[in-house]
Amino acid sequence: MVILKEVDAKNFDEIVNLKRESNMFVGSPEYVLAEAYIYRSDSTAFGIYSDGTPVGLVIIRDRPEEGYPYSFTGLFIADGFQRQGLGQAAVGAIMAKFRAERLRDRVEIQVSQSNAPAVKIYRRCGFKELRRANWDPDFIVMQAEV
Ligand SMILES: CC(C)(COP(=O)(O)OP(=O)(O)OC[C@H]1O[C@@H](n2cnc3c(N)ncnc32)[C@H](O)[C@@H]1OP(=O)(O)O)[C@@H](O)C(=O)NCCC(=O)NCCS
Repeated sequence: MVILKEVDAKNFDEIVNLKRESNMFVGSPEYVLAEAYIYRSDSTAFGIYSDGTPVGLVIIRDRPEEGYPYSFTGLFIADGFQRQGLGQAAVGAIMAKFRAERLRDRVEIQVSQSNAPAVKIYRRCGFKELRRANWDPDFIVMQAEV
């Protein structure tokens, strides 16, 4: 079972030490945790756990400012744990969290069109392509209902 656990003093070490050889699409665990600090006014870093084992990390915009949708960024599944359905299960857990809290009725994310595994799991979790991102035409904005 895949669950999300907020990164705090108790699990910081196991999350920052997750293995990630390539920094393609998303940075190192240290970088993602630093990004979470930047976004701390509306977002929270969560470790992704599969049956108690730490397998990934994601920053969730779980307290969006007025007028902004839910979102998440920096999602990765660590080396050795990919291609086992955990990425899709993690997005499912994020959507379930949004549905339980229901502060907003939609989720918007940005993803590189060339990131085939990510686009595949987002489509499977109900996301539809909305438009190209303004800041980089390689990126698309995808949206799902909560
Ligand atoms: C995107 C990511 C989170 C997916 O995690 P995951 O646990 O491997 O995902 P899943 O196993 O749930 O599903 C991935 C799907 O993509 C497929 N896939 C994996 N690598 C692929 C590749 N290089 N090309 C095409 N499809 C690929 C898998 O086969 C699977 O599809 P299937 O169920 O039909 O077999 C993971 O690849 C990752 O951490 N990538 C680096 C960081 C990143 O890109 N994050 C997303 C930023 S928007």
